[in-house]
Amino acid sequence: MSGTVLRQEDSKVEVTGFEARYYDTLMNLITLGWYPSFIRKVIADLRPRAGERILDMGAGTGRNALLMHAYTGESGRIVGLEIGEEMQRQFRSKTAGIPSIRLEDRRIDEALSYEEEFDLVFLSFVLHGFIQEKREAILRNAYRALRPGGRIAILDYANFDVDEAPGWVRFAIRRVECPLAEDFIRRDTKEILTAHGFGEFREEYYLLGHIRLLVAEREEKPEGDV
Ligand SMILES: C[S@@+](CC[C@H](N)C(=O)[O-])C[C@H]1O[C@@H](n2cnc3c(N)ncnc32)[C@H](O)[C@@H]1O
Repeated sequence: MSGTVLRQEDSKVEVTGFEARYYDTLMNLITLGWYPSFIRKVIADLRPRAGERILDMGAGTGRNALLMHAYTGESGRIVGLEIGEEMQRQFRSKTAGIPSIRLEDRRIDEALSYEEEFDLVFLSFVLHGFIQEKREAILRNAYRALRPGGRIAILDYANFDVDEAPGWVRFAIRRVECPLAEDFIRRDTKEILTAHGFGEFREEYYLLGHIRLLVAEREEKPEGDV
């Protein structure tokens, strides 16, 4: 891994074609039916509250937005950001007729104009698919979009030693997953979030500790911020 130059072009985070069209079904099948109950549990652990404003970055098919809407209700607001055409189509069709859910065709890795307007920013299986420079840009966007005291929630791989992981995990990370995933796993996500002005961490672990929901609060940024 070390010495390999990672390029954004090698990422698999922009889901297109067959994979995009059947994304939810494929997730259910690949995980042998585990995914629906897993993601319901994650959203319950996320604890969205009635009336909250949520920014869902890299929102996918809208499955997560719908699950969060069950908590936020019509007094809340969910804004999904998504660039994949097929993902956007499914998001719009799934959430049609729900006024408090909206989709915007925006890149999350370029400067966004939201300023302190959200209570919660959700990044679900998105951050690992970017080179570190872009991850930092996404975190800067998240920080600015949140009101002080608002929460960022990252559902993604935990930080662990891939060499020491069980064979099926090593296979999934090194042969199936996005080539940028292992780089994400190796870095200390909490340390990176701290440098971006987040603190008060809360963590929930799944899949034998290999997947984590990391929730942190927006604090004031330290001097010499990134
Ligand atoms: C692995 S999927 C996860 C989707 C969803 N968050 C979930 O958990 O089901 C990553 C998503 O991010 C979207 N995406 C990739 N790059 C993006 C970018 N630069 N800006 C906005 N969305 C992006 C992809 O199209 C895809 O829908």
